[in-house]
Amino acid sequence: MSEPITVVVTGAAGQIAYSLLYQLAAGMVFGPNQPINLHLLDIPVMMKVLDGVVMELEDLALPLLKAIVPTADPAVAFKDVAAAFLVGSMPRREGMERKDLLAANVEIFKVQGEALNKYARKDVKVLVVGNPANTNALICSHYAPSIPKQNFTAMTRLDQNRAQAAVASRLNVQVDKVKNVIIWGNHSSTQYPDTAHATVTLEGSTKSVPTEINNEDWLNNIFVEIIQKRGAAVIAARKMSSAMSAAKAAGDHMRDWWVGTKPGEWISMGVLSDGSYGIPKDIVFSFPVTVENGQYKIVQVNFSS
Ligand code: NAD
Ligand code: LMR
Repeated sequence: MSEPITVVVTGAAGQIAYSLLYQLAAGMVFGPNQPINLHLLDIPVMMKVLDGVVMELEDLALPLLKAIVPTADPAVAFKDVAAAFLVGSMPRREGMERKDLLAANVEIFKVQGEALNKYARKDVKVLVVGNPANTNALICSHYAPSIPKQNFTAMTRLDQNRAQAAVASRLNVQVDKVKNVIIWGNHSSTQYPDTAHATVTLEGSTKSVPTEINNEDWLNNIFVEIIQKRGAAVIAARKMSSAMSAAKAAGDHMRDWWVGTKPGEWISMGVLSDGSYGIPKDIVFSFPVTVENGQYKIVQVNFSS
């Protein structure tokens, strides 16, 4: 068994964290042989609620969970962390765009960037979930100049999972048969879910998703809009933003970053642009990536094929 790593979850008393913490404690993200210490950050007024979350974590009786530190102090929360899930921030309500959250959430990511800079490991892997996720990741990295900018990522995995599920449902296949759907851009209604290079395994052989679906209107219009507006559709139905699926996506993103992607498989992550595909450098943009030895690489898709 390895030495424990320290993992911080911010917004630990909130909805997403409630579904995420079990995955972390059960070894579903960092692996079944990796013990963890969990640092749980929330704001002072939520400390009583957080006590309840701590009780539940203890009652899970999971052997990989070595220590639990609930706190409202970023200096304590970010101390020596190897992985950070930055969830804590205000969610949008019906009728809002994610960018409307900037005013409320920008200060949070400035303070947490400064705390990461001072207290976290220099190789910390940071996943920003709080919206608007791409912008918040950029802000956070700006205030953490001692940590490589490549270590700050934004979550578009929920969009990827939604897109994969929608394609699988259209083709009436199991979701894991669909691969390499790409999410380009921002985690916002301007994102572009792209199936041009996606594949589906049918009766043991790999086929092209556009060929199998064979309906350009569905692929280029209906599907794109479903994925772009899925978050809003969940809010309209639940009166709260997605949480269970967001937590699953956060676990998927960090697991693939930590453990690596499978051969031939791409995942989408909001990462610092290196200028690929003509996207301006140094903004956080969702690209297809592969991961090896804890390092991601932007996939250079050949559009002429
Ligand atoms: P929530 O309101 O249930 O929980 C947020 C928690 O953050 C609360 O407990 C709150 O007290 C805490 N918090 C607020 N300020 C904080 C601070 N400065 N430090 C630490 N904690 C703080 O919200 P939620 O449903 O868990 O959603 C959290 C965020 O995730 C929202 O911004 C939401 O829009 C976003 N989100 C992103 C995606 C994505 O795909 N990127 C998906 C779903 C939700
Ligand atoms: C989502 O996509 O479900 C989240 O970003 C929450 C939201 O505001 O839509």
